[in-house]
Amino acid sequence: DGEPTFSIIMVGASGDLAKKKIFPALFALYCEHCLPKNFTIFGYARSKMTDAELRTMVSRTLTCRIDKRENCNEKIEKFLKRCFYHSGQYDSEENFAELDKTLKEHEGGRVSNRLFYLSIPPNIFINVVKSASRSASSKNGWTRVIVEKPFGRDSESSAALTSGLKQYLDEDQIFRIDHYLGKELVENLSVLRFSNLIFEPLWSRKYIRNVQLIFSEDFGTEGRGGYFDHYGIIRDIMQNHLLQILALFAMETPASLDAEDIRNEKVKVLRSMRPLQLENVVIGQYKGHAKGGVTHLGYTDDKTVPEGSLTPTFAAAALFIDNARWDGVPFLMKAGKALHTKRAEIRVQFRHVPGNLYKQNFGTDREQATNELVIRVQPDEAIYLKINNKVPGLGMRLDRSNLNLLYSSRYSKEIPDAYERLLLDAIGGERRLFIRSDELDAAWNLFTPLLKELEEKKISPELYPYGSRGPVGAHYLASKYNVRWGDLS
Ligand code: BG6
Repeated sequence: DGEPTFSIIMVGASGDLAKKKIFPALFALYCEHCLPKNFTIFGYARSKMTDAELRTMVSRTLTCRIDKRENCNEKIEKFLKRCFYHSGQYDSEENFAELDKTLKEHEGGRVSNRLFYLSIPPNIFINVVKSASRSASSKNGWTRVIVEKPFGRDSESSAALTSGLKQYLDEDQIFRIDHYLGKELVENLSVLRFSNLIFEPLWSRKYIRNVQLIFSEDFGTEGRGGYFDHYGIIRDIMQNHLLQILALFAMETPASLDAEDIRNEKVKVLRSMRPLQLENVVIGQYKGHAKGGVTHLGYTDDKTVPEGSLTPTFAAAALFIDNARWDGVPFLMKAGKALHTKRAEIRVQFRHVPGNLYKQNFGTDREQATNELVIRVQPDEAIYLKINNKVPGLGMRLDRSNLNLLYSSRYSKEIPDAYERLLLDAIGGERRLFIRSDELDAAWNLFTPLLKELEEKKISPELYPYGSRGPVGAHYLASKYNVRWGDLS
């Protein structure tokens, strides 16, 4: 047929990300009939492997999530037949030329579109892009490259990476993933705000007291301590995932839903942010803890972590956007590993009702009498709004209750994984959910001076027990701005 062929080349095919996320996401898209008709998947890595071995490896990661009926195994078989493996060095133009030859055999002279997914450490991004773009880019269709963080460690290294990539690629060929942008409730953020009259007019300093962006995991860095130690929680979660959510939350109304219009607004917000001050940041590190017969090791007990490491596994920060909409509103971020729960949420605390007629009727907890909108990104996706109501009965006592949109009770369809949406968009050339280079620069400019100061001054993190709620310093930081963390009250 005359339809273009589409190849996705998974560079680093045997890595964790490819196995856990990318192959399953591609299979889910296949089941949903979302992949281009003539698609082929090529694994590319250094180790020797046959097509059959790759297929066995991939098949272990696939589940019948979408098609639960019996023909799922048949689908898996069909999908695997489209998967191939090519072994080669990451910096070898020759090896990529061989890959090109194999791709051409599959393409049979038709228009070919090629998507390279770099599931490899960033220090070899440029080598791969250089060899792949010289020897294996499409001659008659498009070539795109997906890269995933870490995009450097600071402004300088990120800029070097960007300019390295741009030697071989145009900006519109580069798809930088922040997988949080592919999460259902993050994508819904704009819908919630811009299509509901009861929210849109309230979205400013006039009605919002503070905004909280919270990420917690109930496991440590076990097994990836060596990697993590080079980055720490601020680079791992805050500078990207939480900051991206903040930018989407706080941006001005874009001219349209076009990718450039949205990204222009996000960059503007990031550029309006006040430089982060050390006194507005608290860092922590988890220590070993034994509870109920289970002992969890501390961060530095991990053999891959250098002794005496000061790398934070927890951080809380107060950020400010110095523009007309958000002047003076604290945006509090909190991110940590080895905490008591796994959760990611956005909390919007509204101001008090001026001259509230019912302020006496709340009992002692008058602080509680404000509205709060919670967007729970995961787990158990939900949006709930805390409102005040009267406790039924003859008296007049007020209570706070939740108007609750719990996705699992409202929708029977399972929520797609973030990577499914992102891959689909990259295939379709939709850039809205990918990070443009100026966004990345702005994000690094915000965090780099702070990161340098923390490292130069060798600031010690506050220790907190594995499985706890994190360092108390986070409470002091919030109370400095008259804020209570919503997830703890
Ligand atoms: C990654 C971080 O970007 O996000 C990990 O590097 C973290 O440290 C992960 O565990 C969390 O993603 P998710 O989708 O499981 O919340």
